[in-house]
Amino acid sequence: MLSAKDNELLTRVGPGTAMGELFRRFWMPALLSEELPGPDCEPVRLRLLGEDLLAFKDTNGRIAITDAFCPHRSAPLFFGRNEECGLRCVYHGWKFDVDGNCVDMPNCTEGDAFKERVKLTSYPVQDKAGMIWIFMGPNEKVPPLPGFEWLDVPSEQRYAFKYFMACNYLQTLENEFDTTHSSFLHSTLDGNVNNPINTITGQSFANRRRMLDYSRISIVDTAFGSAMITTQDPTPDGKDVYTLGVPYWMPSYSAAGALSAPGVLPLNLKVPVDDAHTVFFRFKWSRAPLSDKVLHDMKYGNYEFPVVIPGTYIAQANQSNDYQIDRVRQRFFNYTGIVNTPIQDFAMVENQRGPVTDRSRETLVSSDKYLIHIRRRLMDAAGRLQAGEEPREPWNTDAYRIRTRRIEVPGGTPLERVIEALVDVDPEWESKALRSLEVEPDALPALV
Ligand code: FES
Ligand SMILES: [Fe+2]
Repeated sequence: MLSAKDNELLTRVGPGTAMGELFRRFWMPALLSEELPGPDCEPVRLRLLGEDLLAFKDTNGRIAITDAFCPHRSAPLFFGRNEECGLRCVYHGWKFDVDGNCVDMPNCTEGDAFKERVKLTSYPVQDKAGMIWIFMGPNEKVPPLPGFEWLDVPSEQRYAFKYFMACNYLQTLENEFDTTHSSFLHSTLDGNVNNPINTITGQSFANRRRMLDYSRISIVDTAFGSAMITTQDPTPDGKDVYTLGVPYWMPSYSAAGALSAPGVLPLNLKVPVDDAHTVFFRFKWSRAPLSDKVLHDMKYGNYEFPVVIPGTYIAQANQSNDYQIDRVRQRFFNYTGIVNTPIQDFAMVENQRGPVTDRSRETLVSSDKYLIHIRRRLMDAAGRLQAGEEPREPWNTDAYRIRTRRIEVPGGTPLERVIEALVDVDPEWESKALRSLEVEPDALPALV
């Protein structure tokens, strides 16, 4: 449960708000690279953190994301002419380059001299991993891109898509760390083994443990955000076993979600459009090229990547049609009667008493521990930034490279010692952890 004041702090993302400013310290995906298919292509409207923006690619292939409105008389630049290395406003012909410089002001006598003083807001952008990333913070505080290893994998090893969601970012972000919902919301009914997830995990959702024992779990802060450390069963020879997983990368990124296929890893990136809307970038990648079969299933299977209304990024099963719930399916086949996993989530998070839920009306329990932690993490960082303390996470670039970790340690090793080792961001972590905790090299399985 949160006070109305804290709920406001967490959910308001427009310019000048505490959370809006915190998000403006991080690189965020803004749109898919495919939305700007080539030089001088059509400009694309977008909205992020409550700001109306416009993206275009100039004649040389340089990408711009700018204010959506002309600094002259606020005409919509969406209707502009994308020509000869710049976008020209069609109201009176002022022209801007990708850096927002006014390069032509043909409707007035003072144009040649005066244009130097006119600037269209233009944000730094980078095109990586099939997504165009934006930094909307102060010019003097632009950090490097986060060190996610998947930002640089070849295009045949990744797939990115996006969905617009009709709710505040925090509702869909919390869902990523709502650690018990999967075995209810995403389950199929007993005896139904056709769920593709079962063939990957070798288990039926219906049979999975539905309660999480938080006495075996610690939620810890890391240099990139937070993570879950779980005490696993000890080895037969008496070593204690711990895993670090379910990373939360600040400000709003997670690796929650099922594997598409063995070795295909999920990423969910939730970016605030405004207080009541979110854009969800859904990303899958692998250390080997994705097979045609896996890619085909992602694009057309309507399972992990819901089918959208043609020409949009809005799922066909959406709030306006109750997510196409089928009560017969719900009675006999799956838990919700809703076809695919992300839409089952959408149906919950878009309808928690509205797009910006009132968290003073919740009744939280131990299974909500991780999402409570995320709220605190965000609130603390936003509060500190308001007080003049910049967040360090955007600058801890290498920490974003973290993978799931598992270690075996001598029985009785203090938990604090284990946590210290597991959150260490040293690139030589494996060998260092082996040294300091006396783990046999072959005790470390492949990291996921
Ligand atoms: S409003 Fe754009 S040139 Fe006048
Ligand atoms: Fe889910």
